[in-house]
Amino acid sequence: MTELPHIESLRGGTTAAIVAADLDLKTALAQETARRWFARTLSMRSPLDPALPARPGRPEKPELIPPKHMEKRSLHTLKGRIALLHALAHIELNAVDLALDIVARFTTERVPHSFFDGWMQVAFEEAKHFRLIRDRLRDLGADYGDLPAHDGLWQAAHDTRNDLTARLAVVPLILEARGLDVTPTLQAKMRETGDDASADILDIIYNDEKGHVAVGAKWFRFLCAREKKDPSATFKELVRTNFRGPLKPPFNDVARAEAGLTPSFYRALVSVSQS
Ligand SMILES: [Fe+2]
Ligand SMILES: [Fe+2]
Repeated sequence: MTELPHIESLRGGTTAAIVAADLDLKTALAQETARRWFARTLSMRSPLDPALPARPGRPEKPELIPPKHMEKRSLHTLKGRIALLHALAHIELNAVDLALDIVARFTTERVPHSFFDGWMQVAFEEAKHFRLIRDRLRDLGADYGDLPAHDGLWQAAHDTRNDLTARLAVVPLILEARGLDVTPTLQAKMRETGDDASADILDIIYNDEKGHVAVGAKWFRFLCAREKKDPSATFKELVRTNFRGPLKPPFNDVARAEAGLTPSFYRALVSVSQS
């Protein structure tokens, strides 16, 4: 186990985790900062906090390529399952940095402490997800870094770096909610091929991710209420200006609703973003 550097504050610990290129160190720092924050032994900021980097620290591998160059493989082959798990590991790694960035970047925002509780819980769980999938890849004789990965997710964070409400619209309410739509099918396919170990991991992730969308929806509504804005109209407006990709049905309406994301938020966006 890599020895952890001293964690100075919530902002310092989350920033150090974002900067870390060693993924054992990154995930350990994310989880330790969360533990210390929950134990109330960390201040919000310190003058010694390092500056937030423009991009998170990453190992040399995987090679990052444009999303359209990613190969699609059938889950009925070992190679195909490894490729899917590799893509998911990459998404979880981005999710670690995205959750940490919401905390580190917005520690100066006027929000209750429980805002940071919610996002540190998310960061803690994303680190857990990344490790679970990486360990599964290792069980299958592969590892994170063996295949190329796409480089689209960090852009979403970068584009909304100056606006917390826009960040919440795009990261938890678009990107993470998309995970709720696609995970049950992937899980079923994994079971069909007899890979129960991978399916069990997807199960853990799916349940945690409902919580992440719920944290996003809660604080998105909080910020809208404070500005006296209508949440679903604001969501549509922010997504139109800050998100380039399409919103693809079918939606998992049940899981989305459980997380507090009602169809009024996303239904009307389908045609707009596809036109
Ligand atoms: Fe996750
Ligand atoms: Fe998540």
